[in-house]
Amino acid sequence: MADTADHDHVIDTGKGSFDLSELGHLMPGMAEIMPLVGARIWKCYYAGQAHNQALARFQLKEARGLMEKGAFLRPKYNENMDKFIDEEVAVVAKCIESEDWDAFDTAFHAMVDAANAYHDVYDKSFLKWKIPDQPPPDLDMTPRR
Ligand code: HEM
Repeated sequence: MADTADHDHVIDTGKGSFDLSELGHLMPGMAEIMPLVGARIWKCYYAGQAHNQALARFQLKEARGLMEKGAFLRPKYNENMDKFIDEEVAVVAKCIESEDWDAFDTAFHAMVDAANAYHDVYDKSFLKWKIPDQPPPDLDMTPRR
């Protein structure tokens, strides 16, 4: 295989160009991905409060996808991210599937506490995520039958 030094591709953005080998640096890291996770998790919570199974399921799945993407791009988080998804996130998912909304509330708070404990692990204890007091203003939480 040709070595990347003599085999690169130029990516034209329309406004400028860069080499394909530089693409990795432009991929989002946790600082870009985590706020998106927060937005999904917020929606998931209020969907659960509204007993909207389809929406809660969807938002949790999207949050999980973002977290997996974060760990894929930043492998140092892999192990703990897998653990978080297999443990705390899985319990929330189960409550959504069984539509046990009381258990959902408890599991959800446990998931948020665990997330913040992981922030501590990575020396980010100043990042304490909390469920916003109000539902997200941009999405109707009412279940559609
Ligand atoms: C319910 C799940 C989670 C939520 C809602 C959440 C939320 C957030 C938010 C909103 C931020 C960005 C804060 C800001 O910059 O304003 C953040 C940062 C961060 N989170 Fe999470 N998080 C979750 C789970 C996790 C897990 C499981 C890990 C690691 C295994 C993790 C690792 C990090 C790290 C390392 C940062 C700092 C990124 C940086 O360098 O800026 N988070 N989180």
